[in-house]
Amino acid sequence: MALIGANGAGKSTLLKVVMGVVRQSSGDVIYNGSSLRSLRPHSVVHRSISYVPEGRRLFPEMSVKENIRMGAPARCNDLKERFDRVFLLFPVLKDRRTQQASTLSGGEQQMVAIGRALMSNPQLLLLDELSFGLSPIMFENVLSAIEKIRENGVSILMAEQNSERALEVSDRTYVLENGKIMMTGKSSDLIDDPRIQTAYLGVVS
Ligand SMILES: Nc1ncnc2c1ncn2[C@@H]1O[C@H](COP(=O)(O)OP(=O)(O)OP(=O)(O)O)[C@@H](O)[C@H]1O
Ligand SMILES: [Mg+2]
Repeated sequence: MALIGANGAGKSTLLKVVMGVVRQSSGDVIYNGSSLRSLRPHSVVHRSISYVPEGRRLFPEMSVKENIRMGAPARCNDLKERFDRVFLLFPVLKDRRTQQASTLSGGEQQMVAIGRALMSNPQLLLLDELSFGLSPIMFENVLSAIEKIRENGVSILMAEQNSERALEVSDRTYVLENGKIMMTGKSSDLIDDPRIQTAYLGVVS
């Protein structure tokens, strides 16, 4: 699923509300039939939801491995298996596991943030602005990793400024304007919709 909308539309805020990072003033978040309202972020993670924040939010002075470790529970008896899964998806991180996170490229840092999020074994992964600061090629690399994660049965909700790629890679899209869902539908239908084309895809009619 994709969430698109202009700067300030409320995409990041929506994901933060789901994670319990900020509180909504009204409404509720229902996941698998139960409310997530007023849960703290760690309790949301217990419900099998995980999050890659906008701007990645790594600990720059800590190593790659330490950053990834942060996503797993404090007590974890299958830590090695969890690391192995992340390193299988991102072999470059295995090579760089002892390096400080700040020394990695933007794309590699994004991989660390995704790896960290996967360490809690999520069923639903929220991704905020994956394309942020990445070259088009690096963004494609990251997207193909996301596709593999999805093939392993993890649901994806991505908030994305790059509306075109978000519409192309997702099944459904929600269009957010001023904190409200203005349109929703199958991504393949929305991509042909003239309103989406003029407002979000830069097509001049
Ligand atoms: N549903 C809402 N009701 C009221 N205010 C909101 C709502 N959602 C977001 N806001 C406010 O709008 C501002 C921008 O929101 P946010 O950062 O979520 O936008 P964004 O879509 O992620 O933008 P960007 O594309 O720049 O990352 C914030 O100040 C936030 O508090
Ligand atoms: Mg945002």
